[in-house]
Amino acid sequence: MNTDRAWEIHAQSVPQGAGRVYTPRDVALRLAQLVLEPLADAPTLLDPACGSGALLLGAIEWAAQERPAWLDRWREGGLIGWDVDARAVEACNAALAVALDAPGGSYAEVRDGLDASGEFDCVLANPPWISYSGRHARGINPVRRAELAARFPAFAGWPALHTAFAEQCAKLTRQGGGRLGLLLPMQMADLAGYGAARRAITARFTLEHSIELGERAFDGVTEPAGLFVFGAGEGTDRAWLPDEDAALLASVRRFPPLPPESFGDIGVHTGNAGKLLVAREGEGRPLRVGRDIEPFKLAEPSHVLRDLELPEGKYARIADEARYREAVIVLRQTASRPVAAKHEPWALFRNSVLACFGAPDHDTDYLLGILNSDAVARIHRAMFRDARQRSFPQLKISHLRALPVPGREIGELYGRIVQASRSAAGGGPPAAAELNLLVERAYGL
Ligand SMILES: C[S@@+](CC[C@H](N)C(=O)[O-])C[C@H]1O[C@@H](n2cnc3c(N)ncnc32)[C@H](O)[C@@H]1O
Repeated sequence: MNTDRAWEIHAQSVPQGAGRVYTPRDVALRLAQLVLEPLADAPTLLDPACGSGALLLGAIEWAAQERPAWLDRWREGGLIGWDVDARAVEACNAALAVALDAPGGSYAEVRDGLDASGEFDCVLANPPWISYSGRHARGINPVRRAELAARFPAFAGWPALHTAFAEQCAKLTRQGGGRLGLLLPMQMADLAGYGAARRAITARFTLEHSIELGERAFDGVTEPAGLFVFGAGEGTDRAWLPDEDAALLASVRRFPPLPPESFGDIGVHTGNAGKLLVAREGEGRPLRVGRDIEPFKLAEPSHVLRDLELPEGKYARIADEARYREAVIVLRQTASRPVAAKHEPWALFRNSVLACFGAPDHDTDYLLGILNSDAVARIHRAMFRDARQRSFPQLKISHLRALPVPGREIGELYGRIVQASRSAAGGGPPAAAELNLLVERAYGL
């Protein structure tokens, strides 16, 4: 058993060509541990795009420490790699033979992982990440493209080798006890276009882990990488929330959101008459826009709304003035987290601003402190990961209406948050830091 030497042999095989990037040892070990830990008996284990064997080596190294008896079983068979690259297959066999101390052993073969079939207790894969659509699209033979789309709904939803492979890996994993570990672009966790790929896997298995590996997990790859582990049981087609987000949400969901009528999208909607109605100066009613709002701070209205009769064919939506007066807090709409200020002195505002009308049994300063807190920024990010993906992140009314908010049941903390929110409104970073700490405690984080 000589894993260091095996990894050296593996490293001598240099991946060549698009989508061929080998998994580093630490990531391979982490994947092996998360997939294999729950198992007592040696599983049959497949990597259908094995390269020179990093993931299989990770499994052997983990088992050598934690389940040494498995190695005897694997020497006789049950450890399998497929790859279309003959040189990689050769390197894989050489590395595995050293790792298992079984000279001449043969584990990998040249085979197209998308066209093969079989059933395995565990499947591990870091498939080629190659998209045939979007910004980084590469060409593909139209016949092959149509064939993959017909065979793999995941590919039909988002044409890419990694979507077809992800689905194929799920099909190759035994249902009822089988386990699956995949290294994929992190975007697959929540981007709408990958919905079909998520469904193709979670129709058969349940997501157990979703781990963000960041942008530097693989040599030369800048796309953020994710590590996903699936086990028994059908799941849902919900986003594959990273573990820490899932834990955060599990702990804060005990707090109900504010009533839906606490928030409103009442801002002036200028329809097709923006140029006629809104100006930076001149006659008209003062009008705020999203940029007039900073955390706890409200600038003077930067625009005016002209009072005029719209010519025929032009339309706009302006709520009753009383509604604007009723808004006790205003929030920026173009933001990746809630950014809120007290609505004093009141003015009209555009639809780049969202309104909060307060809530029964709640103090306005309390709500302001909660909305501006780092804890709420984290909760918002975890609940609405897809909102971050866009170049212009949007805070939506539906987000605000879903946000859990602790109530008076938090006892004396409530009053302390009110005080800290007032101090933060007038003070600098120390006051904001104190507020953040108190809000974290209120949420039990
Ligand atoms: C990202 S590399 C990963 C290799 C290895 N599993 C690892 O983690 O280091 C992807 C591998 O998929 C192989 N590959 C590409 N298309 C394939 C196919 N249709 N069937 C099997 N292997 C394929 C490439 O040759 C490459 O070795």
